[in-house]
Amino acid sequence: MSPFSFSDRVRTLRESTTIMMSRLSREKAERGESVINLSLGEPDFNTPSHIRAAAKAAIDAGYSHYPPVSGYAELKAAIIDKYEREQGIRFRPEQVVVSTGAKQALANLFQILLNKGDRVVAPAPYWVSYFDMVTLAGGTFVPIPAGADADYKVTPEQLDAALSEAPTRMVILNSPSNPTGMIYTREEMGALAEVLAKHPEVFIISDEIYDWLAFDGELRSMAPFTALHDRLAIVNGVSKSYAMTGWRIGYFIGPPAVARMAEKFQGQFTSGACSISQQAAIAALSGDHGPTIAMREAFRQRRDAATAILDTIPGVKYARPQGAMYVFIDIRELLRQSDFSSSLDFALWFLERHNVSTVPGEAFGMPGHLRISFAADIPTLTSAIHRLADACQSILNHADVS
Ligand SMILES: Cc1ncc(COP(=O)(O)O)c(C=O)c1O
Repeated sequence: MSPFSFSDRVRTLRESTTIMMSRLSREKAERGESVINLSLGEPDFNTPSHIRAAAKAAIDAGYSHYPPVSGYAELKAAIIDKYEREQGIRFRPEQVVVSTGAKQALANLFQILLNKGDRVVAPAPYWVSYFDMVTLAGGTFVPIPAGADADYKVTPEQLDAALSEAPTRMVILNSPSNPTGMIYTREEMGALAEVLAKHPEVFIISDEIYDWLAFDGELRSMAPFTALHDRLAIVNGVSKSYAMTGWRIGYFIGPPAVARMAEKFQGQFTSGACSISQQAAIAALSGDHGPTIAMREAFRQRRDAATAILDTIPGVKYARPQGAMYVFIDIRELLRQSDFSSSLDFALWFLERHNVSTVPGEAFGMPGHLRISFAADIPTLTSAIHRLADACQSILNHADVS
């Protein structure tokens, strides 16, 4: 008999498919094979030098003690200034909780707001961790599907129907989106906000972690919809926009009572986010955004290069990404003409045979699709997409793909 048994809570926890694909690709690379890893969800750029300098200065200035649980006042001020500068909305410090990545901000919110069986609605495809975090908090995750033909966006009618169908505790919105790169326009966000106004019992999470990676440069947010502020949490962080995934700083801005409870909760788990990273995040938010804009431009060029090849591949469909760092392609037609039973099957074969790691749509609640990340330079990215074109051609020619 085992000396321990795992809690019921974690029994249903799945290994992240993104992490699994990265692991398989790393193992292949370690065997000496030349693998292109397009399953990564992080910028392939280094953190800008002024941010690194701020962290070094923080070490020398003695930032080695426990930080305030909800974050340093200066970081909260930088977050508040950001939203005032970009959205014209001034939040208050008691609304902000800084966490160990946006992931922990989300986990805190689900843990403090959800009871067993609470219904949580989110457009699909959705970021892989929403499902597991909500489930772990006892919630019931209900996706609203929106495919490539709908530009991967839910309509106000779809949202209204989902919220009217059964009592719902929470909605999660994510724009720019992981995995599709789609962005709701201001008008589309306004129309969704109108639907949300009709359902005052629903708490809203707006995950805006890719806000600076919008290719048209316009930073859209739920912040301007002030009528929703008493039940809205905006989640953001420095991971993606400032190439700081390893520094682990995220935050949410929400109603003060929610922030107080999240602080209490977080105080029992981590005692707050890394002191040195918080100082670096201040430099990121209030410093020079030139490197971020250059990174965004690189992602835009990669998007153009990748989609130019995708456009020539028969059997695949996609909606042109407007931000973030991914393209999400519909390969259902291709799968129909092949012996693959799923996009997971295809992704594993594509890695094994063509040495390119992607993430299958199963990870995002939309089987029959593949997510390709732009976290590689243009020659590498285009070489990988040419391999995809070859793979698709071999399938359509009914060549041996076993
Ligand atoms: C949509 C979305 N939200 C949140 C996160 C988490 O970000 P962080 O690295 O700050 O925890 C990610 C990271 O992949 C993401 O894609």
